[in-house]
Amino acid sequence: MSKLTVEHLTRRFGAQTAVNDVSFEVQDGEFLTLLGPSGCGKTTMLSAIAGLDAPTSGRILIDGEPIFDAAQRCNLPPERRQVGMVFQSYALWPHMKVRDNVAFPLRMRGIAAAEREEKIRWALGLVEMEPYIDRYPHELSGGQQQRVALARAVVYGPRLMLLDEPLSNLDAKLRLRARGWLKELQEKLRITTIYVTHDQTEALVLSDRIAVMQGGRIEQLASPVELYEQPQSPFIADFVGHSNLLDGIVQEAEARRAKIRFGQHLLAVEKILKPNKGSAAAIAVRPENVILHQGQPNGSGGGNYIPGKILQRDFLGARYLYLVETSGGIVRAEVSERFEKGAVTLELPAHACVAFARDAAA
Ligand SMILES: Nc1ncnc2c1ncn2[C@@H]1O[C@H](COP(=O)(O)OP(=O)(O)O)[C@@H](O)[C@H]1O
Ligand SMILES: [Mg+2]
Repeated sequence: MSKLTVEHLTRRFGAQTAVNDVSFEVQDGEFLTLLGPSGCGKTTMLSAIAGLDAPTSGRILIDGEPIFDAAQRCNLPPERRQVGMVFQSYALWPHMKVRDNVAFPLRMRGIAAAEREEKIRWALGLVEMEPYIDRYPHELSGGQQQRVALARAVVYGPRLMLLDEPLSNLDAKLRLRARGWLKELQEKLRITTIYVTHDQTEALVLSDRIAVMQGGRIEQLASPVELYEQPQSPFIADFVGHSNLLDGIVQEAEARRAKIRFGQHLLAVEKILKPNKGSAAAIAVRPENVILHQGQPNGSGGGNYIPGKILQRDFLGARYLYLVETSGGIVRAEVSERFEKGAVTLELPAHACVAFARDAAA
């Protein structure tokens, strides 16, 4: 039963602020992901929670008890925080067999041999690595080593699990498998988990909630569906699922809809965040929501139709990605039909267009 609270956490390295006044909570049993581009402060945040690094200011609490409090000079050492960790580099001890690697945290806590053996088998069983108990790390694949690292992290029953890009050293196929058993493990154990990744697909698949970070701050903290459907900034719209960000000028604005001038055309958008009449706007629309028509569309209208010209077609496997030139700029469209280069009509469904004030996009 462990809830994590982070309050006004800041970490400065000289003139640089790696984590900037961040507050959030992770509920008991929740899987929360810190998602963001390289350098946004994810590892710094995780190190602070683990006790590997002391932040400049703020507090961190587990179940209401401070484990770090800059003002009170409270800073519990890592081994007293009861936190399990797995990092990008597997960090198994190369000279120890699987059994001894997993036994290590139990030995450190003075757990007797019989109970130790039982716990080791339980933890290795969870990640389906029991048959490898007598192997050395170099006799295992990368994915297997990472599973042993996970077993070692959960074996003594930590209050929190911290995972820092644990799958990023695996090849694409293995990553997919590894994602599966991480999810299974979480469903079995329900340990409060903080997962760090720069991979949005991983975040969407695994998480109960996602905190998207940029420049040391959390830009939005929400469920995967909410992030995808209701991004609060152009950065989120583009980072979670990729979006076209089209430059326009607000022509008419109401509470939930607006008309925006884009090149020579007026686009209706249904979801609208913040822009005012006359101001510059960014229209976010996902490439997979853009529809392409050869010649004149026979649609019933109501959509936003704009003429364009296909500049480039990339084969993606199941779909094609098109770069389409319009009077307002280039629009990306991802569709399954094959079109030849040349004139097309683009349809940007109003319900799939979100408009932001352009200053928010800076
Ligand atoms: N020990 C350190 N000394 C100086 N700068 C650091 C240190 N650790 C991290 N930083 C800086 O803080 C920022 C955040 O880093 P980090 O938390 O590792 O990002 P992420 O894990 O999101 O890629 C980066 O700009 C990085 O260069
Ligand atoms: Mg990192």
